[in-house]
Amino acid sequence: MYSQVLDNSSKEFKVFGKTSLKDRATAKGLMYGAAAVQDDLVSNKDLKTSFIRECNMLVPDYQLKWDKIRPTSKKFDFTKSDWLAQFAQSHNMLFRGHTLVWHQALPVWFQEVVNCKNAENFLLEHITTVTKHYRGRIHSWDVVNEAIEPDDGRTDSLRKSPWLEFLGVDYIELAFRTAAATDPKAMLVYNDYGLEYDNPKDEAKRTAILKLLERLKSRGTPIHGFGMQSHLMGHQTGLNAKKLRNFLADVASLGLKILITELDVIDQKLTSDPIVRDRIVAGIYEDYLNIVLDERAVIAVLTWGLSDKYTWVSNFFPRSDKSPVRPLPLDSNMKSKLAWNAIARAFDHAPKR
Ligand code: XIL
Repeated sequence: MYSQVLDNSSKEFKVFGKTSLKDRATAKGLMYGAAAVQDDLVSNKDLKTSFIRECNMLVPDYQLKWDKIRPTSKKFDFTKSDWLAQFAQSHNMLFRGHTLVWHQALPVWFQEVVNCKNAENFLLEHITTVTKHYRGRIHSWDVVNEAIEPDDGRTDSLRKSPWLEFLGVDYIELAFRTAAATDPKAMLVYNDYGLEYDNPKDEAKRTAILKLLERLKSRGTPIHGFGMQSHLMGHQTGLNAKKLRNFLADVASLGLKILITELDVIDQKLTSDPIVRDRIVAGIYEDYLNIVLDERAVIAVLTWGLSDKYTWVSNFFPRSDKSPVRPLPLDSNMKSKLAWNAIARAFDHAPKR
């Protein structure tokens, strides 16, 4: 069943020295960071120490999403996201914002309250309030997340989201313009997933995303970057270096920077032996990063979490044998795994920006 996966059994993933991921990244003009949750950093000292050691960028895993900062239609609550912003600042990490416009994580009241008459006001108010709150403290904003879904069957491949339904196709441009008006210094990013592999579905997404980015640029929209989430599947084959590099080069040719925003390697369908699993996962980390870091427009790599103890994969992609998932660079005791070596090796191997 797993024979299609690269055989890494003889690969040693050797790394020279103990230099942290952030320092290896910095040496190449790159940044390395991870997604975090305030409660985890507070309750687990070892996680906190590891974060400070490894990362020079931090992004809230969910504590900046609509349902977390909008308890009611009239209130904003920045308590947890502020803690994360402060933590990042006091440990010399850049802070990313995720995310201003998404079809998911909308509060329960959203469905009751928001309609096509008031949706524009809600969108503008939300973006203005949140970007103003963090003005001057944000490296980059995922302004719009996951707006493309070719399977929804529209000719423009836009996802049938509440925002599209209420505001029409220009909601994306409106979101970027609103964010830029309030925080003209932040890097404004379009972020999406499911485009990394060489198959018709991912290909359709790459094509549609490129079209969207071209359209936004041609209309003078203030967009500065593309975020490629990169939730990779441990059991999936079909990383096509040439196609991926061509896609990244096309994005870069629009004058956009590229960020790998949510990297992890999902081990849901891999063999139960954790040693073998770790090798396969590490192999994918290294192969993938070697491909994408070849493109000089790629400026940052963020993993979606740092330790296997705290990962969305446990809930969203659990294993059928019930054993703990192992998608991230550190294990659940904050010990570095082969995936850490793989990332370190890819940074060491990357051309300098
Ligand atoms: C996930 C979080 O990690 C979970 O904790 C949350 O409950 C659901 O969302 N793409 C994204 C992220 O853009 O916001 C998602 O994060 C993972 C997929």
